[in-house]
Amino acid sequence: MEFPFDINHLFPERFSILDQTLVAGRKTAGMPHLQANIETVIDELGRASAKAQQLPASITSASKLQSQKHQLYLLKDGESNGGRGVVVGFLKVGYKKLFLLDRQGSHVEAEPLCILDFYIAENLQRYGYGRELFDFMLQHKKLEPVLMAYDRPSPKFLSFLAKHYCLTPSVPQANNFVVFEGFFVNIAVAQ
Ligand code: ACO
Repeated sequence: MEFPFDINHLFPERFSILDQTLVAGRKTAGMPHLQANIETVIDELGRASAKAQQLPASITSASKLQSQKHQLYLLKDGESNGGRGVVVGFLKVGYKKLFLLDRQGSHVEAEPLCILDFYIAENLQRYGYGRELFDFMLQHKKLEPVLMAYDRPSPKFLSFLAKHYCLTPSVPQANNFVVFEGFFVNIAVAQ
């Protein structure tokens, strides 16, 4: 995904982690144009993700990120676009209190890290970038994929989880979240 400004200037590292402050590893206070460009990138990514998932509205935007305690992992390719860089995609995570059903149908209250949004630019899908970004988040959070919950995963994402992390089948839930075999075993051990 190309932008009319220098992505390498905005995001110095291959991976950036953005939170409520929208800071990408540098101080943007006093640099309003950088802040505005970061907001443009997040809004554009959110729109593209919603379109790809056929959602009626974006679930990721700069203003939403500023008002929620979520984290957004962003992956860039610094060499493309004549050295100005392109944004490859993003992954948004956050903790949520959930009421889940285990395999026996018993209610379990948990507050796992949830995958809330995930998008790789259309022309860059199926080249391993999604895996690279997901693995970076796992390493940063020191977590296994089975310990997380997935908010309304798309068919492509379910295929991705089955292929890379052998996550299948899921334990049916009454809400939009998906958890996999092994989630409740680990919750029980942790409690
Ligand atoms: N059709 C089916 N499966 C796909 C597709 C596709 N078009 N694209 C990726 N996958 C799955 C497959 O398992 C694929 O393996 P295969 O090519 O051997 O079949 C695997 O992902 C490829 O792995 P990566 O290359 O690492 O994944 P990629 O960089 O494509 O990123 C992602 C995966 C994020 C799901 C990407 O395809 C995408 O952005 N899709 C559109 C948006 C989307 O559905 N996001 C998930 C929303 S749900 C949520 O966030 C909770």
